[in-house]
Amino acid sequence: MKTNIIYNKDCIEGMKELPDESVDLSFSDIPFNINLPKKVKSRRQGFDGISYKDDLSDKQYAELIGNWIEQNYRILKPQGTLVIMSGWTNLGIVLNLVDKSNFCLLNHCIVKYAFGIYTKKRFVTSHYHVLFLTKSNKEWTFNKQKKYDEDVWLINRDLSAKKIRHPCPTTQEWIKKIVLTSSNEGDVVLDSFMGSGNTAIVCCENNRQFIGFEIDPQYYKISLERLSDKTSTSPNGDFATQKSLICIKEENQK
Ligand SMILES: C[S@@+](CC[C@H](N)C(=O)[O-])C[C@H]1O[C@@H](n2cnc3c(N)ncnc32)[C@H](O)[C@@H]1O
Repeated sequence: MKTNIIYNKDCIEGMKELPDESVDLSFSDIPFNINLPKKVKSRRQGFDGISYKDDLSDKQYAELIGNWIEQNYRILKPQGTLVIMSGWTNLGIVLNLVDKSNFCLLNHCIVKYAFGIYTKKRFVTSHYHVLFLTKSNKEWTFNKQKKYDEDVWLINRDLSAKKIRHPCPTTQEWIKKIVLTSSNEGDVVLDSFMGSGNTAIVCCENNRQFIGFEIDPQYYKISLERLSDKTSTSPNGDFATQKSLICIKEENQK
C-alpha cells in the first residue's frame, strides 16, 4: 500500500492490507459514538446529507475499536506508538479494551481547551483524553517538546476549523504535538479515521509520510480538497508534500 495517500475505505479493511510492523506512529481521533441529534449534526456540518458514524450500539462500538486496536498492534513497528484521542463518554469502553490488549499504557494525557459547548444543567466539557500506548516496554520514539513536558496540555481548539465541513475536525496543534513527540522525520504515520485530513496536513508540514482511511465519501472528498489546496500552495514543499500531490492526482484520475 502506498504512503502519502488517503483511502476512501473502512479502516479495518484498509489496515488488513498493511504489512506487519510497517507503521511508526498510529494516531486517531476515534469516533465518539455519541449519537448526536440530527439537528446538531447538520448545524455543525453546515450542510445536510452526511451520515456521521456515531450511532453504533456499545457492543458494535467495542467490536470496532477492539478490532482496530488489534490491527494496530500487528502493523506497528516494535518501537512504534499508538495514540488514541477520545472524548470522555465512551472512554470506559476504550480503556477496557486497552487493558485487554498487549499494548503498554505510557501516558494518559488531557487536552484542556477553552470554549466547550454551552450547557445548562451540567458542567461544560472542555477536555479530551489522549492515550499513548507502546508495543515495547523498553524502547519507543519520544522526542520531548520541552524540558518539563506535562500530561495536561493547555492548547486551545482552532476555532477557524468551523469552516471545515466536518462535525469535529481535530485541532492541528494537538496533532502536531503528538506527531513531533512520537515520530521522526520520514516516518510513516497512520490515521485510520482521517475525517477532514488534518493529520495528513500536519504530516506534510512536518516531513512525515502518511496513510489515511476515511469511510465517508464526502469527508474523504473534503480531505483531498484540503490537502490539494495545501500542496498546491507550497510548490517547493518537502518530499512528503510533493509525493502526496502526485498521489492525490493519481487518486483523482481513477
Ligand atoms: C472524530 S472524526 C476524526 C476527525 C479528524 N481527525 C479530523 O481532523 O477531521 C472520526 C472520523 O472517522 C470516520 N469513520 C468512522 N468509522 C470509520 C471506519 N470504520 N473506517 C474509517 N473511517 C471511519 C468518520 O466518518 C469521521 O470522519
